[in-house]
Amino acid sequence: FPQDKVRNFSIIAHVDHGKSTLADRLLELTGAIRKGGQAQYLDKLQVERERGITVKAQTASLVYRHRGEDYLLNLIDTPGHVDFSYEVSRSLAACQGALLLVDAAQGVQAQTVANFFLAFDQDLAIVPVLNKVDLPSAEPDKVAEQMQQVFDIPEENCLRTSAKSGLGLEDVLPAVIKRVPPPRGDPEGDPRLLLFDAYHDAFRGVVCLVEVVDGSIRTGDRVTAASSGDTYDVSEVGVLVPEARSTGQLCTGQVGYVITGIKNTRAARVGDTWHLYKRPVERLPGFKPSKSMVFAGIYPTGGGEFDALAAAMDRLCLTDASIGVKRENSDALGAGFRCGFLGLLHMEVFLQRLEQEHGASVITTAPTVPYALDLYGGERMEIQNPSQFPLGVKVLGVWEPTVAATITLPSEYLGALMQLCQDRRGELTEHTHLGPGRLLLRRGPYVWYALPLAELGGDFYDELKSLSSGYASFDYAEGPTRRASLVRLDLMLNGLPVDALARVVHRDKAQQVGRAMCAAMRDKLGRQMFEVAIQATASGKVVARETLKAFRKNVTAKCYGGDVSRKRKLLERQKEGKKRMRRVGSVDVPQEVFHALMRV
Ligand code: GTP
Repeated sequence: FPQDKVRNFSIIAHVDHGKSTLADRLLELTGAIRKGGQAQYLDKLQVERERGITVKAQTASLVYRHRGEDYLLNLIDTPGHVDFSYEVSRSLAACQGALLLVDAAQGVQAQTVANFFLAFDQDLAIVPVLNKVDLPSAEPDKVAEQMQQVFDIPEENCLRTSAKSGLGLEDVLPAVIKRVPPPRGDPEGDPRLLLFDAYHDAFRGVVCLVEVVDGSIRTGDRVTAASSGDTYDVSEVGVLVPEARSTGQLCTGQVGYVITGIKNTRAARVGDTWHLYKRPVERLPGFKPSKSMVFAGIYPTGGGEFDALAAAMDRLCLTDASIGVKRENSDALGAGFRCGFLGLLHMEVFLQRLEQEHGASVITTAPTVPYALDLYGGERMEIQNPSQFPLGVKVLGVWEPTVAATITLPSEYLGALMQLCQDRRGELTEHTHLGPGRLLLRRGPYVWYALPLAELGGDFYDELKSLSSGYASFDYAEGPTRRASLVRLDLMLNGLPVDALARVVHRDKAQQVGRAMCAAMRDKLGRQMFEVAIQATASGKVVARETLKAFRKNVTAKCYGGDVSRKRKLLERQKEGKKRMRRVGSVDVPQEVFHALMRV
């Protein structure tokens, strides 16, 4: 295909506004998949089907005939998950345009706003599409007005579609051809590739998705990844239609896959620039090594199941390079892993996949963010586990990560939202009304908050939903780090700290959280043979206390008489139960306690 007949574009949308459905329709329209074939071709993973979210981007090339000429349209799917904003920005970097898809009944939502600005910052041509116009509650005129007010997009530029009924779909691809410019790269230049996604295939190894920015790439070329300097031989090059089809070559502006000897997705870094071996080029802007923002300890439920868990983690990490894994030992939980995630939702999806796809059963510690500590003497340390927070050393300052959050909700809930964000130590950055008051309820203001990342945990999302009767929507991007008054909180049993339960909390909340943890421990621990003192300490000082009275559980008490075999059976059963206990000093702690305390 000549370069001026190529278009690279993405669909950006708030979750559930119909991105996958529209992508399927476009694939059907161009004959890439059969009509009525498997729904939502682009969402492949099981969790995605269940949760209806796109976790990892998938991409397809379409051939479309327009006014007697064939065009190659590369549809680059972006992840629809709030924790993946960096990957969204890299996928957009491979495009010259984006379809901005908005549900005509719901209007502009948080992810619409956040994704629009990602695309706008990269100077992409925006093709606005109002979808779901078939719904009785759709108000495309009002949403078009809103697009004008919020994004300065002329109302008459908005396409109107129903990805469900097919209405208006014939206008979409012609609009892409007309409004999105062809890729501008230099066909004669040294080859320069943008790697924007990679996935692991059981048969082919790591498949890298690239846009050829300049020059071209062929099977047999030697390529170097600019970020690491590692060099690979290209064994296969091709396009995704949407299945991989080898073409032997990709030219300037084209999007496709490259297979090299890379074994692990970790070596294929999203956002990296690739060039020919010994032909270095100027790197493409925006590369960031993947950075974990939320950490948690993950331990097998049964003590002896470590190897099975390790194997499951290995398999899962092959498919998701954004997860950081290190071995970790806890006094209370034994051998396990400290895992780093892009965000809390990413962690949840990972844990769900670990259970559903790999049958693992785990205990996780309360998630924590990375903190930077200024120590006396000018030293700075970063901690990814609250139990690394030094005690007995003077800590001069603690710095925590924040996020720049975009929230949209109806105006009448604004007061409640501001209260929630204030409780979570948020700072209002800006707010704007999404249109005049007579618009639909849902189109209230959008608000920008700087919030500590740590405060998004617990029930933040649930509270946000409930305070706005379900109408609030939320998205975020990484913000700067901020200094805060934070302390280490420990839970002690008979004077010994339970390392897996350590946390970092704000000084003002230490007592409240400490009390709640002590109370939960008292309720869940179950009677022991001797009295147990349960204490919470903040920076080493006791802030809460509970006492558990002694009780001897004699399982054989009911076996009066001399039935030895029955007595033995009961004792064995007691031993079984003990196996699922964790020992802290002399106290046996059942697994449920860890589950319960993580949620406090
Ligand atoms: P994520 O993958 O979670 O980001 O969602 P998505 O934006 O891909 O949305 P998806 O295509 O999964 O559609 C969400 C829901 O809206 C599904 O139940 C679709 O059947 C429905 N839907 C999509 N397009 C239309 C439309 O034009 N009209 C109507 N009535 N429903 C639609």
